[in-house]
Amino acid sequence: MNINERPLRIALTKGRLENKTVELFEKIGYDCTAVHEKGRKLILPVGDSIEVVLAKAADVITYVENGVCDMGVVGKDTIMEMSGKFFELVDLGFGKCKFALAGKKGNDFYAGYDVKTIATKYPNVARNYFEKKNMDVDIVKIEGSVELAPLLGLADAIVDIVETGTTLRENGLEVYEDIAPISARVIANMVSLKLRKAEIEELINKIEENIK
Ligand code: PRP
Repeated sequence: MNINERPLRIALTKGRLENKTVELFEKIGYDCTAVHEKGRKLILPVGDSIEVVLAKAADVITYVENGVCDMGVVGKDTIMEMSGKFFELVDLGFGKCKFALAGKKGNDFYAGYDVKTIATKYPNVARNYFEKKNMDVDIVKIEGSVELAPLLGLADAIVDIVETGTTLRENGLEVYEDIAPISARVIANMVSLKLRKAEIEELINKIEENIK
């Protein structure tokens, strides 16, 4: 590391992806003690050459796009919803789930000619999906437990994340169509990738060797 430079700064999505990424860093051989003993601290050293920043998924993208973090670990769901200017470098293969169109069990979603209402936490993903089908829909943004919307009669279907399918099953809903597979991705700031190419490439090589 250049003595005048800060460590390579990596934004991690807090929670499950954070734990899996820390496991990966330990497998590579980095000392993650500070992360295990973090308390309420948000910026933590990993080994000698990296510091991790713990953030919400959408903020990981914001920090990487703006170059205050060189790299990030974030779900493909957030990448698809937010897009933005950064490079997507590696599929980490964990945090696997999918985007799906779902609704009440047994209903024919495409029946009738009325404009359908879709509830979702991911309005851009939903809009893009139906634009590709040339289908006009009304989209309602919901902040959590989107499954409620068709149950309460607010929406004909939802576009949401399905992992085990338990939430749908336990609420009398089913997947109508799969939209896209999701997993955790490593992203990098475009300028960092040029200025800190060697460090980033070295880390990416180590990551790729340890996710096989
Ligand atoms: C996600 C998603 C579903 C659920 C799917 O919600 O929105 O509700 O997980 O998981 P399953 O297929 O394993 O049941 P999350 O738990 O993130 O909570 P939220 O609705 O409050 O965002």
